[in-house]
Amino acid sequence: MGSLTVRNLSEDVKKRLRLLAAANGRSMEEEIRLLLAAGAAEAPVAAQANARPAKPVPSEAAASQILLIIGGGIAAYKSLDLIRRLRERAIAVRVVMTRAAQQFVTPMSVGAIAGERAFTELFDPASELDVGHIRLARDNDLIVVAPATADLMAKMANGHADDLASAVLLATDSQVLLAPAMNPRMWGNTATQRNLARLTADGIVTVGPNAGEMAESGEAGAGRMAEPLEIVAAVEALLAPQAKPLAGKRIVITAGPTHEAIDPVRYIANRSSGKQGYAIARAAAAAGAAVTLVSGPVALPAPSGVTTVQVESARDMLRAVEAALPVDVGVFAAAVADWRVAQAGEQKLKKDGSGPPKLALTENPDILATVAKLKAKRPTLVIGFAAETEKVIEHAKAKLKRKGCDWIVANDVSAEGGAMGGDDNAVHLITASGVESWPTQTKDGVARQLAARIGGFFSRA
Ligand code: CTP
Repeated sequence: MGSLTVRNLSEDVKKRLRLLAAANGRSMEEEIRLLLAAGAAEAPVAAQANARPAKPVPSEAAASQILLIIGGGIAAYKSLDLIRRLRERAIAVRVVMTRAAQQFVTPMSVGAIAGERAFTELFDPASELDVGHIRLARDNDLIVVAPATADLMAKMANGHADDLASAVLLATDSQVLLAPAMNPRMWGNTATQRNLARLTADGIVTVGPNAGEMAESGEAGAGRMAEPLEIVAAVEALLAPQAKPLAGKRIVITAGPTHEAIDPVRYIANRSSGKQGYAIARAAAAAGAAVTLVSGPVALPAPSGVTTVQVESARDMLRAVEAALPVDVGVFAAAVADWRVAQAGEQKLKKDGSGPPKLALTENPDILATVAKLKAKRPTLVIGFAAETEKVIEHAKAKLKRKGCDWIVANDVSAEGGAMGGDDNAVHLITASGVESWPTQTKDGVARQLAARIGGFFSRA
């Protein structure tokens, strides 16, 4: 009966029915059955449609227009849910699929959920006359690439344009958000990290990838695509009309401890949780900055809309920071290990009866001081942290001079101060013009206040 009814409807009503069904996640037949049931119960059809305020029917009146590019990875199936979640929020979604993406989801299912056909071909006379790749590139408020594969990222980083997705990405002026998804080894590969650094420097932002089990059995690590709701949160943050005091600014932030190997199974570490650095990354991204977070090993999720580079040692951290340059602001919140073992054991050190091993230590590079003293690529604003257990301001002022940074955020990390690992922080901001003591507040509060101060610095500059 459903198909008979559909066939007899006008094209316009059919289209609206298709959109309504897609928005509600039902088949058209199911939608018709519900509408007829509502009619039989003498409920006005319009009221039935309006009874779902959380799932508005997308229309020309949709608040924003997203172009979603689906790359070819197993995570492509999550993009269907992503489209649904975006449309629930009255965000219109137009979709481009790479050839590889079509191995994982079909243009038909994508089109049904998006409410219009998915675009797949660069040389498609029909769509070139209709929308064309230049219009696909321009007529949107944001481009989201999910999943962003290693291959797609490599093409973007190098400016390729040999298919519709890469041509659109090359032709666009819109903000681009990537949700990378790939095997952890592909993600960790130097080539992918180099491409990521290039893309971040070009102003592209990322959400995820998350760490965890991969679809391939026995594989785990960073590489899982961010969940649809995390991507939606990143999209909403990018579309939010509020003032973005750090829009157009690029920031690199270090966070967490570093691990310095003694041998393949042992390391020197410290108690840093990374919470303050991660909070600054979130606040800076929310204020519109393109953020690269270089993180030592911590148990925190990668913030949405931030490019997170995971590192282990101080030397890795310095390399990752240098790869992220040039930036406008450097915030060095990591508790970098001051020393490492001069000669880490290649094999596990064994108890051989001659007593404990004698570990000769050597000094690690000072990341903050190295960046603050750069000639060509020094960030306009270099901000250090000073973790002190006594004479907090006096020691922090000396550190500001010694390391050559512009501001120092000093905090008391004595047991009584409680900053290490806790959620609150009481800090003093030391600049050339004096010392400001901020009230005790959450680490998120400190981060927002710092982001606002950085915004103020640039608006006065
Ligand atoms: N820092 C860094 N690289 C290092 C050591 C510290 O980038 N190898 C940065 C920290 O991220 C922080 C600032 O320098 O922004 C001060 O760190 P802190 O641990 O307080 O100072 P130290 O240089 O370690 O000095 P000290 O141990 O004498 O207090």
